[in-house]
Amino acid sequence: MCSSIIIANANRPWILPAIALQASTNDNDNDDTSSADDNEEDGSNDGIDLSLDERLYRVRLSRFPGIEWGTDLSFAFVYVRALDPSGAASMSGQVAVGDQLCELRAVIDSDSNKPVNLLGAPFDYVMTAFATLEKGVQDVELVFFRGSQEDLKAVCTGEGAKKESDTVTITVIQNKGSPEENIQTITAPAGCNVREVLTDNKINVYQSITRWTNCKGKQLCGTCIVDITEGSGQTNRKSMDEASTLRENPDSYRLSCVTFAYGDITVETFPPIEAAQWTR
Ligand code: FES
Repeated sequence: MCSSIIIANANRPWILPAIALQASTNDNDNDDTSSADDNEEDGSNDGIDLSLDERLYRVRLSRFPGIEWGTDLSFAFVYVRALDPSGAASMSGQVAVGDQLCELRAVIDSDSNKPVNLLGAPFDYVMTAFATLEKGVQDVELVFFRGSQEDLKAVCTGEGAKKESDTVTITVIQNKGSPEENIQTITAPAGCNVREVLTDNKINVYQSITRWTNCKGKQLCGTCIVDITEGSGQTNRKSMDEASTLRENPDSYRLSCVTFAYGDITVETFPPIEAAQWTR
């Protein structure tokens, strides 16, 4: 396995150290869509070494995984913006909104199924990689990174190795401003689901009757609202669905069932919610 640093493309110099990424030695600064073909030109069939960071994971899915892809403002760094609840990715239980796409490989009985490096790739490049899969390909292996784009870049530049802790501290404020105000700190694994952490610690996120009528974390009811008052940048970004559900509320409000904490955050339960939230 190659252990040298390899740059996939001069336009997206994101790399993972000591990873046998398929190098594009034929960089073309102005033609990102050609890069999928570039992978044909190197000799490596090795994919990303998942042992480099525990936030990397590989999953086998249908080539039509039911994922709505998002990008950053430069239309690169493709990530999972939303999941079709009945799609392969959602049904796998492994893929989460906010995960960053790193690699694609067709599952075929052949030595030629080289992985396609998608680290920091432009949206068109990623779509081309999927669209140009051979007709007979039913499944693909995808490598994702669970974390923010900044975290992924830190791993690529080696700064991720400085990460000291695999845990995060969630400070929970209940009944803020009332005589019953209670502040609790919880230590949880990095990347944890906020709703799960709270409910596991017997902290209710549902107001009124929704305590019994909620969708139990399926992002269907829109009632698990919390306010991330500090550290919102340490969480996955909102999907369009979530943003739409919360559109009449402050930006710091989140559906706790689709919020993942990658760093320390402060959460207020039962934030004041616009009446319209409950009339939809
Ligand atoms: S629990 Fe229903 S949307 Fe979060």
